[in-house]
Amino acid sequence: LKDHLIHNVHHEEHPHAHNKISVVGVGAVGMACAISILMKDLADELTLVDVVEDKLKGEMLDLQHGSLFLRTPKITSGKDYSVTAHSKLVIVTAGARQQEGESRLNLVQRNVNIFKFIIPNVVKYSPHCKLLIVSNPVDILTYVAWKISGFPKHRVIGSGCNLDSARFRHLMGERLGIHPLSCHGWIVGEHGDSSVPVWSGVNVAGVSLKALHPDMGTDADKEHWKEIHKQVVDSAYEVIKLKGYTSWAIGLSVADLAETIMKNLRRVHPISTAVKGLHGIKDDVFLSVPCVLGSSGITDVVKMILKPDEEEKIKKSADTLWGIQKELQF
Ligand SMILES: NC(=O)c1ccc[n+]([C@@H]2O[C@H](COP(=O)([O-])OP(=O)(O)OC[C@H]3O[C@@H](n4cnc5c(N)ncnc54)[C@H](O)[C@@H]3O)[C@@H](O)[C@H]2O)c1
Repeated sequence: LKDHLIHNVHHEEHPHAHNKISVVGVGAVGMACAISILMKDLADELTLVDVVEDKLKGEMLDLQHGSLFLRTPKITSGKDYSVTAHSKLVIVTAGARQQEGESRLNLVQRNVNIFKFIIPNVVKYSPHCKLLIVSNPVDILTYVAWKISGFPKHRVIGSGCNLDSARFRHLMGERLGIHPLSCHGWIVGEHGDSSVPVWSGVNVAGVSLKALHPDMGTDADKEHWKEIHKQVVDSAYEVIKLKGYTSWAIGLSVADLAETIMKNLRRVHPISTAVKGLHGIKDDVFLSVPCVLGSSGITDVVKMILKPDEEEKIKKSADTLWGIQKELQF
């Protein structure tokens, strides 16, 4: 029937996608990333990888059944990494997640062991891809992915404080009655418990909130703005306690990074990168700072003007991370 219906003009031998994105790990986070990426039309092929074959096939079929409503013509999956070949971007969300009350740092050795398998396989089939690490503890695992992959630093990116900053801007927006897009504020440093809010930079339309309200971010503040940073830190714990995991916000924030990379937008995002040499940090650690992101990865870092106590906090996070990293087996 096909031959009666269609007259073939040109036969393509083994065509491969030009804008392929792979997601490793089809848990709550991986699938939220997948659907967010699909809804933004960022790829001509989306590939899923996991070790649990039934779940993997089920998720692929379920997405494929939505093809009519999407503009990503190829959705594939497989346990074997050959399916990921020629990816421009590989997003790693595989691994153990926090249990109720468990810290991110506690997940480390379990997820390092998983990365020892995943990363070499990704590299084998997409040696020129950008690696975007989401699994926790994300800053340490970005370092681990960098070490195992042998990739240059600019192509190994951690989602880092991109989500923390989004949460901050949401909470700031709620207080002010202004959309988060117009509420500017940067959370930097470690994703999670020791993240650092840069109060001096918080602004709406370039108007510094700290200049208007000098107590902002201090314990003396009668408006308790520090509380919204505490809420950011507690966000994951709260959501995990309520629904068991976090997914939608991380998925949307990862798709935002994917958009910047796939379209070479060169927007600035608070994401995890190698920070040795910045802010007095002497070890090979990855922490979030404002990074210029594009199709080749992270090309530049914006030099933040930090207060001495903010710089001190970042250095302390770096020391904590290095303390853990130097004990890791991989
Ligand atoms: N960076 C962030 O801001 C952020 C936010 C939320 C969650 N996370 C992290 O993302 C990770 C995933 O969370 P989740 O809720 O999706 O967990 P989940 O348990 O729902 O899914 C994890 C998936 O990884 C798969 N997996 C395990 N080992 C694998 C391997 N060797 N290869 C391929 N796949 C493998 C599992 O089969 C499972 O499908 C966790 O580490 C979590 O802490 C990070």
